[in-house]
Amino acid sequence: MTPDSAPTVQQLLAFYLEAGVDCALTEEPVNRLSDPDIGAAAREAALPKPVRTIPAVIAAPRVEAAPAPEAAILSAREAARTAPTLEALRALLEQFDGCALKSTATRLVFADGNPQARIMFVGEAPGREEDIEGLPFVGRSGKLLDRMIAAIGLDRTSVYIANVIPWRPPGNRTPTPQETQICLPFIQRQIELVNPDVLVTLGNPSTQTLLSTREGIMKTRGRWFDYETGTRVIRALATFHPAYLLRSPSYKRMAWQDLRSIAKTLEQAQTTSSS
Ligand code: URA
Repeated sequence: MTPDSAPTVQQLLAFYLEAGVDCALTEEPVNRLSDPDIGAAAREAALPKPVRTIPAVIAAPRVEAAPAPEAAILSAREAARTAPTLEALRALLEQFDGCALKSTATRLVFADGNPQARIMFVGEAPGREEDIEGLPFVGRSGKLLDRMIAAIGLDRTSVYIANVIPWRPPGNRTPTPQETQICLPFIQRQIELVNPDVLVTLGNPSTQTLLSTREGIMKTRGRWFDYETGTRVIRALATFHPAYLLRSPSYKRMAWQDLRSIAKTLEQAQTTSSS
């Protein structure tokens, strides 16, 4: 495409895809540049002439003013602290406007499984299928996670599953450090309220965020950490993300070792609590 020539529809679609715009939010195209909330100067600067609206097949992410990251992190901490139950925490998240990901996601993906579970799995962020269904790990990697859980005799009625980020980042892009920090108090409170005996972090982002380590998953996987809730220490194990295992099946052998280690620790915790 030369600077002077108008882009073709294909080029425009490729541009939107690269920018993470990969699904329709509405049936009709919306010209967000005519939004009165967007300043006239910005509109003037941004408008190519003649004005082109975005085709109906893809709608631009809504541009909404989110609070400054520091303010959003503080308000997330304050809000999460006050949630007395998981239902209250979910309701708080439904109301929370401090994370811009909420405005591009279809819905909140809070959790799946049993809130009384003794084991909790935490991934990074929902993908496309999760965003549609409103449940974590229901896509391809979720199917593998189900098989991993089944390998130690459990299923979604006996485990609890959530993500560090409860809204799908557009185009499955990596969440920014600010987005992660804004969502962190909520997942920390979720872990505290579920209060499992064993916490399993799936993949590098979840491990680094929750277990406060900068080491990569190749070093951390299979290692037990102490996760402090503030009121209790929970045994936490890092393992590979199922999406990674789908791409690199040779690591399934190590994941299997991690699962056996998890099963053993669960057994020990059971014996200790019943003796
Ligand atoms: N990957 C994640 O980390 N979480 C999901 O819920 C789905 C895919």
